Amino acid sequence: MSNFHTLSVSEVKQLTPNAVAITLSIPKELIQTFAFIPGQYITIKKEIKGTELRRAYSISSSPKKDSITIGVKKVDRVGFSDFANTKLSKGDTLEVMPPEGRFVFKPSGITKNILAFAAGSGITPIMSIARSVLEDNPQSKLVLVYGNKSYKETMFYTELVKLQLEYSNRFFIYFMLSTAQEEDSLFGRIESSTVNYILNNKHKGLVFDDYYICGPENMIYNVKDTLATHDVTEDKIHFELFTTNEISDDLPEKQDGQTALTVILDDEEFSLSMDKGSLVLDAVLKENIDAPYSCQGGVCSTCIARVTEGKAEMVKNQILTDSEIEEGFILTCQSHPTTPTLKVDYDDV
Ligand code: FES
Repeated sequence: MSNFHTLSVSEVKQLTPNAVAITLSIPKELIQTFAFIPGQYITIKKEIKGTELRRAYSISSSPKKDSITIGVKKVDRVGFSDFANTKLSKGDTLEVMPPEGRFVFKPSGITKNILAFAAGSGITPIMSIARSVLEDNPQSKLVLVYGNKSYKETMFYTELVKLQLEYSNRFFIYFMLSTAQEEDSLFGRIESSTVNYILNNKHKGLVFDDYYICGPENMIYNVKDTLATHDVTEDKIHFELFTTNEISDDLPEKQDGQTALTVILDDEEFSLSMDKGSLVLDAVLKENIDAPYSCQGGVCSTCIARVTEGKAEMVKNQILTDSEIEEGFILTCQSHPTTPTLKVDYDDV
């Protein structure tokens, strides 16, 4: 079940001309519910002009606080990001789903050296991960390459500089600017040569335990492919697509026929009929079944369910691993049925 709670906004802080940091107070009785692992995100539900919107935003704060901070960049004129940047203020309330997500750094107390690449608002989960890496073990080192158009548009710039001063012998940050050649920065976009520069030149000899990448798709695959040429194995590379929550238009090709769909949610069973060419989540929501979802674009992982009967195909998937797919997991917002009957279980995930 979609599990939303009302949280109040304790601060809205301007980060750049087009981005704000929103801090939400967590009341004592919800501390456990909103406990999170660095890298996770929350989903916010908001009705704007008669339409219910759900948007996922990564948490930038440290899990040690009794509040949660997210970064919201304005990416639309009428959606939630516009509302957050122009109307939201201290004392307002928001409907929020507890933290989720698999792009995480689990503090273990063990020394770890981390190399991270972030672009634009992709810095948000990396902020939380960075704080945890540095606080977790006094020997751990963190190297961060952070790409933006200019310093003016660099989210969390002040906080990052502060963090760098606090951990000057263990936190190394490279600001990469694509439209301005400015002091103490690299010029251009994050690409293969950037990865090579860090590994072959700036931090040659430093052995990294894990790699975190967050930003647009082309940057992620570029960095990932280049890391592979440095013999970095896939299990050490963690990445999260950071797009603008757009609805996917890669709808399945027109398929004729109907599928008898059975849905298990919160121990209840629902039966409905759906077009084979439609997406499972759309069909479920149309019947007012309160299934969990957020981005509806195959970017988060809120809508996962397990197929226990029949088959479904995913239009897009950058989240589930091959073994998870073999176990029957699907992103219901990206899946359409390919068999006359299909049974999906939201509880068995
Ligand atoms: S709702 Fe985000 S992946 Fe399906």
